[in-house]
Amino acid sequence: MKTKLFILFSIISIGLFVSDIKANPNGKNIFTSKGCAACHQPAVDSVGPSLKNISSAYKGNLGQLIDFLKGNGKPLLEKGKFAGQYDSVMKLQLNQIKNLPAKDLKDLAQFILSH
Ligand code: HEC
Repeated sequence: MKTKLFILFSIISIGLFVSDIKANPNGKNIFTSKGCAACHQPAVDSVGPSLKNISSAYKGNLGQLIDFLKGNGKPLLEKGKFAGQYDSVMKLQLNQIKNLPAKDLKDLAQFILSH
């Protein structure tokens, strides 16, 4: 009985540890504190594309998303509902994050891709 409980607790704590890495608290914190959440919701397109749609456009390509966040990449979602909104809306937002330390940009990109 004790062994079973121990195994159960181990599985739960490993699970929590892994989901913590996936959710990336530092990335989430940057995302919220820089005001990104005002235009980007987790699963529904609003002013900007949802994190889920951004994540599927980048297909797990962390380096490409980091390039975009640094202001060096071309937007992938600049069509349909968001046509013409990169230059007028999103490009300005990048000014406040493109000079963040590399680790912060990586955490931010990982947070976005976790959706
Ligand atoms: C005022 C609204 C607004 C805010 C605030 C905002 N965005 Fe955006 N974002 C947009 C719009 C509109 C688009 C769609 C244009 C485009 O595809 O780039 C977009 C697109 C994006 C994309 C997809 C780029 C692509 O490849 O198409 C990413 C990634 C992104 N935003 C990240 C962020 C981050 C990180 C922040 C916070 C620093 C942020 N956004 C803040 C409006 C906003």
